[in-house]
Amino acid sequence: MPILAKRITVEKPDYTSQVMKWLEEKRLYPDENFSASGGAPSIAISDELWDPFCDTLKKARKEAFSYRPPFGSFKTREKLAEGLRKTLNIKIETPQVWQTFGGQHAIFSSMGMILDPGDKIIKLDPDYMAYSPVAEYLSAEVVEFPILMEDKYQIDVDKLRKVLERDKKNKGVAFSSPANPHTKRQEPSIIKELAQVLIELDRVGIQDIAYIHNTRGTQELLYNYCPENSITIGSGSKCYSTCALNLGYAFTGIKELTEDNNAKLSRGLIPIALTQNSPTELFIQLNFGSEAGKRFIEKANRVYEERQRAMMEALNGLPGVEYVDPDSYYYVYPRFSAVKNSVKFAQQLHYKLKISTVPGLAFGPSGINTLRMTTVTETVEAIYANVGKKMGEFLKTYHD
Ligand SMILES: Cc1ncc(COP(=O)(O)O)c(C=O)c1O
Repeated sequence: MPILAKRITVEKPDYTSQVMKWLEEKRLYPDENFSASGGAPSIAISDELWDPFCDTLKKARKEAFSYRPPFGSFKTREKLAEGLRKTLNIKIETPQVWQTFGGQHAIFSSMGMILDPGDKIIKLDPDYMAYSPVAEYLSAEVVEFPILMEDKYQIDVDKLRKVLERDKKNKGVAFSSPANPHTKRQEPSIIKELAQVLIELDRVGIQDIAYIHNTRGTQELLYNYCPENSITIGSGSKCYSTCALNLGYAFTGIKELTEDNNAKLSRGLIPIALTQNSPTELFIQLNFGSEAGKRFIEKANRVYEERQRAMMEALNGLPGVEYVDPDSYYYVYPRFSAVKNSVKFAQQLHYKLKISTVPGLAFGPSGINTLRMTTVTETVEAIYANVGKKMGEFLKTYHD
């Protein structure tokens, strides 16, 4: 393959693509399905957030022609730092924060800052699927680290310490908490223990908090215990219902990155491609951490909570299903005793029942018999009709 770069050579199967390819071949369109796959927020953003944004956008014609620094204008970063101080109750200054175009870009820039070719990084199994391809794109190796449903998906920190101690090339761990797909938070004691290990071994923890505002209770942050050994990445897609605006951010206490007049921060961000002014910045400046933002998040969460409860009830009536009670409102991550291959199962659900889900294998090898089911998109009635009834009937005779 003389033309393509090595990173394009896919050695591992991409399970989401496998389902998509199969659907395309069969001319099946998931748009028409009952949607438990995408993780897209479905409550439209409130007028009190959207209207001032549109008004300001109209007035900002001149800015449409301008450029700004690759990690966000100072004004935007100040707004992010202020919003983070308020909403996360943390000590943080503007030079520690950078704006990104969505959580995905935050993942990319954070990994880009710590990984050299040949390095390794731990990814939990199961965890969000974006970490592995980004690390591999950067020519780093991903080390899958199992976490178990039986342990409520908590990290065994002693085991993780041993993996890090064994290999100097292993730079640390990237993980979501509150997590996608299983929604659990790492408990405060685990976060504290992990911070201690990262400090002692001088490694980095990348904590992805994309769901922090759509979660019951509070999430402990690595940043509070090891600011100089952590990068936190976040997104506004879920909480503000702004996937299309690509609203993301990251922050760190790693001194090397935040001092030195931001030179290293800038180098870590692939600066040339990302210098345009954008509506995203305007939205952050107007709404990030605002009272109106808080009101919207609370309102949306009440609807999501109701839908999630319906999903849990519907699943409870199905044969051979178990799951851990969710912390964040976005998903339920059930395991099915009748399923031996979650890709095949997801395909059959599409094909026979017009129900879209994400096969657990997309999140790591342990997802062989699980599905991620989004709970924010469909109404309570649709959830009972599709999951409670149709899927219930289907599972009575299903085996693969
Ligand atoms: C854990 C996690 N991190 C990051 C993202 C991506 O965020 P964004 O939509 O802002 O790119 C997602 C999206 O589903 C996610 O689940």
